[in-house]
Amino acid sequence: MSPEEQKQPTHPETPTAKQAQRSMLLTALYIAQAQYGHLNDEALQRVAERLGLPLSEVYSTASFYSLYRLKPVGRYVIQVCDGLSCHLAGGADTLVDYIRQKLGIRVGETTSDGLFTLQTVECVASCGTSPAVRVNDELYENMTPQKVDRLLDQLAGR
Ligand code: FES
Repeated sequence: MSPEEQKQPTHPETPTAKQAQRSMLLTALYIAQAQYGHLNDEALQRVAERLGLPLSEVYSTASFYSLYRLKPVGRYVIQVCDGLSCHLAGGADTLVDYIRQKLGIRVGETTSDGLFTLQTVECVASCGTSPAVRVNDELYENMTPQKVDRLLDQLAGR
């Protein structure tokens, strides 16, 4: 059996080693982000080395998903859904404007106390309960400015 044949799985549904490494990539990036706070060069390099994948592939995956952060962020990352359902529910623009004014930051910025980062994302998979906002790993549905007030107060410990 040639070395190439040895790389092929014995069963058609058995993943090759490369496919298995790729399937672990999202989880590895998630863990690295939790450890480093964001996916800096060192974190990306480490994931690439551990999984035996090209750094370019690791970077392109990390930069594709809104779940991953390539820059330092605040303790709470507020992601306002900017998708179609949330727009139709009249929420996205209203909520973004409201949070911008309340926190005194623009989209992509972090408050000076390092507590909040504001982002917009394309759909947080909660279209039936739009408008939706995600803060770190928590989803908040049917959001209104009043709910945003309560949420920010709660997160700030007020
Ligand atoms: S479009 Fe906002 S949750 Fe899907």
